[in-house]
Amino acid sequence: MQSRKTGHTDGGCNKNSYFCTKLTAVSPKHFLSSLISETQKMSGRIGWQSPSNIALIKYWGKYGQQMPTNASLSFGLSNAFTQTEIEYSSKENENANHRFFFEGKENKNFESKVLKYLEDISIYFPFLKQLDLKIDSRNSFPHSAGIASSASSMSALALCLCSLEQELVGSLQEPDAFYTKASFIARLGSGSACRSVFHGYTVWGDFNELIESSNEYAVPFSYEVHPLFSQIQDSILIVSSEEKLVSSRAGHALMDGHPFAEARIAQSKQNMSWLLAALQQGDTDRFVEVVENEAMSLHALMMSSKPWYSLLHANTWIILEKIRNFREKTEIFVCFTLDAGPNVHLLYSLEDKILVDQFVENELKAYCDNQQVIEDKMGCGPKRIF
Ligand code: DP6
Repeated sequence: MQSRKTGHTDGGCNKNSYFCTKLTAVSPKHFLSSLISETQKMSGRIGWQSPSNIALIKYWGKYGQQMPTNASLSFGLSNAFTQTEIEYSSKENENANHRFFFEGKENKNFESKVLKYLEDISIYFPFLKQLDLKIDSRNSFPHSAGIASSASSMSALALCLCSLEQELVGSLQEPDAFYTKASFIARLGSGSACRSVFHGYTVWGDFNELIESSNEYAVPFSYEVHPLFSQIQDSILIVSSEEKLVSSRAGHALMDGHPFAEARIAQSKQNMSWLLAALQQGDTDRFVEVVENEAMSLHALMMSSKPWYSLLHANTWIILEKIRNFREKTEIFVCFTLDAGPNVHLLYSLEDKILVDQFVENELKAYCDNQQVIEDKMGCGPKRIF
């Protein structure tokens, strides 16, 4: 590994990145909080915007309470995000009243999931039962775009709850403590959400080459990343915007007893090691090889599960072939990754944007649902909006 960065400009964000400085593992008991004084009358409003993220090394398979079977690595996006706002006040009745709105409207289906989540994490925020809450959440991307919103929504909510704790209890003053708890809490809602709390390349899961890494929460990759990868572009080719037939939750469960589970863990370790080196050295060949291998392995694991399933569409395969041919012809740094769905994330550097845009326009758009392509790129991480 090369030298650690100490706060520099990353991804064109023009801000000092936040990097955890702790090198010792933090256990869940560090995240406990306390009640607030009953005489304290409280009210206020908190809001956070948090991005979705795209994994390059895939989290696939979990055990216990949202523990990953392998370490994963992702970067946060810029244009695909959730904004969540919490209005809070001292409770008026014996029982606290918590309500959830999606895009300004009551949504009982989402509400029951959010209330169950608040109940599950109440040990870490005991003061929630002293407050009435109105939570309102909205996404920057259309519900039908086929972009998973669990990472951005759970991280935005977790960040709001940590800000609430800081305002009422004052126990999350230090950025390390604040972001680590937010990541831990987000993970309990959705595994991949814990990576959305940080900006730049982010790792979740124990990995022996990164002493600060943990299964409990994500950490920012704290080594200098080569400029080729620090402003990475992501054009999301929407092959289908329909809801997928098999949820990620069910897919993770099919990794229990999967015949290739052990080999997958070994593969992810090797790929992580290669990718971390490639990110520092600017090794685009290795980057392409690892990232496409991870995407195809993810889908191969689904196809070899019992029962088997596949989320890829005929147009996904056509697009993947075209990307490979385009790379061979132009010899530029361009590759794909896939989420748990048929849509293709086309990754490339900022310097090749004009050429890649032409390729998308002329050769790929025709294979997208309603010609939909969402232009995105590495973003600047979450931000507080109120
Ligand atoms: C393929 O984080 O959505 O996107 O923890 O059950 O909420 P839960 O799963 P989720 O799984 C994401 C899987 C993936 C790969 C990744 O993001 O690493």
